[in-house]
Amino acid sequence: MKEKIKQLLQEIQAFSTENHEDLELFRIKFLSKKGIIPSMFADFKSVPKEERKVIGQILNKLKNDAQDKVSALKLLIEKKFIVSDESSKDLSLPANFINLGSRHPLSITRNEIIQIFSRLGYTISRGPEIEDDWHNFTSLNFPVDHPARDMQDTFFIEKNPDISLRTHTSSVQVRVMENEKPPIRTISPGRVFRNEAISARAHCIFHQIEGLYIDKDVSFADLKQTLLYFSREMFGSDTKIRLRPSYFPFTEPSAEMDISCNICGGNGCNICKYTGWVEILGCGMVDPNVLKNCNIDNDIYTGFAFGMGIERICMLKYQINDIRLFFENDLRFLKQFESTL
Ligand code: PHE
Repeated sequence: MKEKIKQLLQEIQAFSTENHEDLELFRIKFLSKKGIIPSMFADFKSVPKEERKVIGQILNKLKNDAQDKVSALKLLIEKKFIVSDESSKDLSLPANFINLGSRHPLSITRNEIIQIFSRLGYTISRGPEIEDDWHNFTSLNFPVDHPARDMQDTFFIEKNPDISLRTHTSSVQVRVMENEKPPIRTISPGRVFRNEAISARAHCIFHQIEGLYIDKDVSFADLKQTLLYFSREMFGSDTKIRLRPSYFPFTEPSAEMDISCNICGGNGCNICKYTGWVEILGCGMVDPNVLKNCNIDNDIYTGFAFGMGIERICMLKYQINDIRLFFENDLRFLKQFESTL
């Protein structure tokens, strides 16, 4: 038995492999229940007493050597597997595709409007969404009892009637007029808030871009030409505009502007309610009182202002029929808008 064990010890010592299968065969051969080593332990019972000590010792060594061999080779193979896996990779292969998502349609539309006006020399100005009464209403010539100040239209903060969420970005233009000297040419994009019931056509949160131009000799003709340029850049060079008299407290005269329906080309469809025209913005010449409120000399300067809802422009441009889609963040909707803007 001693001789056999010595032989096996040599065999185990000499064994080496680089693959899992051979190592597993080795383990089964020596260490599994019916393997050589357990069967030798079974035979050990019949070893005469005087030899037991010596044989017991080398038999234990045999078992330990076999177990050590298996764990050492296992480690080596795993290590090698990782290394060879790395080196077998083609490092020149393109990387895994990273899904970047897409820009929100309102951002695309806002950026497009900004680009059009920046080509005309307009700067961008921003202001706070929580406003005081002066900037949102009083400076803009809103009479004290004007319905827009009513709780139904405006979100007030902590029951303080002096503070509210801005209902339009005209408030930003007041801040610009108070802080800068004419000539002023700026647009103010931003979120606005009105206490309105949510439906397919209206939301209590939406986005506006308002424009302001103040200089010497600014006329209504300048306003009209600016808006015509904008409409054609935005909706195509065939677009026509028409201005209808309207009322805003902060402009005089005031108008609402329609464009020829970009969907039916003016022939009549259900978007333009078969009129051939769709309303897109409000505008007018800045009321001299507003200039005075902002410390601009209204004997020297005149100006025009206009304001539009980004949602409305976007809905017309992409033929979207429900304003709520902009705020639901459904990927199936959002993924349809690819843009470099
Ligand atoms: N502030 C107006 C609104 O929110 C839009 C407007 C801006 C109209 C400038 C005229 C001039 O409805």
